[in-house]
Amino acid sequence: MPGCERLLVASSKGGVGKSTAALGLAAEFARLGKRVLLCDLDSTSRSLDLLTGCQNEALFSFTDILDGMDAEDALLTPFRDLPGLRFLPAPTPRRLSEMKAERGTDESGLIRSGVERIAAWDGYDMLICDTGGGLDAACAAASFFTLTLVVSEQSQTSVRAAEYAASRLERCGAGRMRLCVTSFDLSAVKRENRAGVIEIIDSSSLQCVGVIPYDPRLERFQDRGELPPRRSPVTAACRNIARRIMGYDVPLFEGMPKLYRRRRLAL
Ligand SMILES: Nc1ncnc2c1ncn2[C@@H]1O[C@H](COP(=O)(O)OP(=O)(O)O)[C@@H](O)[C@H]1O
Ligand SMILES: [Mg+2]
Repeated sequence: MPGCERLLVASSKGGVGKSTAALGLAAEFARLGKRVLLCDLDSTSRSLDLLTGCQNEALFSFTDILDGMDAEDALLTPFRDLPGLRFLPAPTPRRLSEMKAERGTDESGLIRSGVERIAAWDGYDMLICDTGGGLDAACAAASFFTLTLVVSEQSQTSVRAAEYAASRLERCGAGRMRLCVTSFDLSAVKRENRAGVIEIIDSSSLQCVGVIPYDPRLERFQDRGELPPRRSPVTAACRNIARRIMGYDVPLFEGMPKLYRRRRLAL
């Protein structure tokens, strides 16, 4: 895909918000008119089929692509109002094991070959690959990506883990590296003395591309396989990050509830 931005979403920790960020960004790029391919590489804790509500149709994955299946036969279009967003689910752990045995290779080798094929497809402006916690798979495919988003929660341990992930991915040939802070709880900055955005940015050597606020209602939508509504700060944050990646200068909390825009001092 010449001219296509290829975005890897990674972290060395599980459960920090990678899949949420990957899907949120994919949806916002599609809303901004991009042709997006969202690809789940996380076989062990695959979740994007659930978050997109297409678990019953998620029959094919990159293993089928490696077996020679056509992209058009494998891809899903999870949201009717977002025809520009196509989705390739992850293989089941069982299918992955079978293929490892068939080909005499490990998971990293399969992921690398799968991403190599997918990255060569035409017809997309944006490829977004979600990976699992742990970095082996991400490292195996890192060199195919033009941008790596290392995802971290607000805690100092998570930020440190993100820095470790970034340095390992850089050594594997990953492209531009950016930090994405997720589940950020602004009210906890003063109430519980947790790190604010500036403190996180100062404590990290990574360039921060955006902050996705904590939204207690998010899981409700995710459980139903729906995107969070446009008024959710998660949606606004993903839109802001998507626009920054496209080169626009977007204020940190643009489009967010007043709470975020007013309490600059708590940053
Ligand atoms: N911004 C957020 N606000 C509230 N909950 C979040 C947010 N981001 C992620 N979560 C929750 O955290 C959990 C892990 O998120 P997920 O995206 O699956 O992480 P990962 O892909 O890193 O394992 C999920 O229950 C999800 O609903
Ligand atoms: Mg995930």
